[in-house]
Amino acid sequence: MSYEIISGKEIGKAIRIDLFERIQHLKKQGITPGLAVILVGNNPASKTYVSNKQKTCEDLGMHSRSLTFETDLDESDLVKAIHSLNQDPEIHGILVQLPLPEHITESKVLAAISPEKDVDGFHPISIGKMMLGQDTFLPCTPHGVMKLLEHSGIQLLGKHAVVVGRSHIVGKPMGQLLLQKDATVTYAHSKTVNLKDITLQADILVVAVGRAKMITSDYVKAGAVVIDVGMNRDENNRLCGDVDFDSVKEVASYITPVPGGVGPMTITMLMENTVQSAENELRQDKSS
Ligand code: GUN
Repeated sequence: MSYEIISGKEIGKAIRIDLFERIQHLKKQGITPGLAVILVGNNPASKTYVSNKQKTCEDLGMHSRSLTFETDLDESDLVKAIHSLNQDPEIHGILVQLPLPEHITESKVLAAISPEKDVDGFHPISIGKMMLGQDTFLPCTPHGVMKLLEHSGIQLLGKHAVVVGRSHIVGKPMGQLLLQKDATVTYAHSKTVNLKDITLQADILVVAVGRAKMITSDYVKAGAVVIDVGMNRDENNRLCGDVDFDSVKEVASYITPVPGGVGPMTITMLMENTVQSAENELRQDKSS
């Protein structure tokens, strides 16, 4: 079977060209979209993600601010820092890099972010609105996956989409967004019995489990569209996804690579949400 690669690198680049225009337009009206990224502790992967986000902001001519705290930071001090960013006119988006250290309650911290600046889409109000199909900031990774499918012309109506993984930030919202586009959605996860029987039914298979190369070709129906959200290191310390690309590409019709698939889309959607937030502010200023 011949397959097509869905390149998040290319699709993300095209979306960022449009974003650049929107940013120029905002700047002409006196607003530079600003993103604040909060990092607690020194998890090396989180550090890399944060510096990639900052670099992309700078490349697009956006304002970026980084707040870094020691691991033993008090939860109340973190909440205070967020409250101050909520009031800061230079900042349109606030992102707290996850995971947080264990002594900090993630849900409390995420709920402290003003929903108007919740560019990660993790506030309970944003999640509730997303579930209801209302206008809100969508979580960046699942939103990025939807853009990949759309740009690749993949029809979702009536298709069976299987999402492997049920995290708050990827799996759960992923299923919701697919459902909103009229796919029939099945969630599978670590307690699923006979996972293979379920993934073999998927027309669209989205994998977000965090286990290197777990999905091999025997889990995939011929002609399926395979989206790999994983980011792991293989036995040779090379970046790889949750999907065994080399074997699965032989049965899939479309497949995302790692790196260069979903990853660049997550950052692009974060930038888009921040630009959207700045545009929302401009619209409010004009109407008041
Ligand atoms: N950690 C891993 N992915 C994400 C993400 O999309 N947003 C935040 N804030 N933290 C993460």
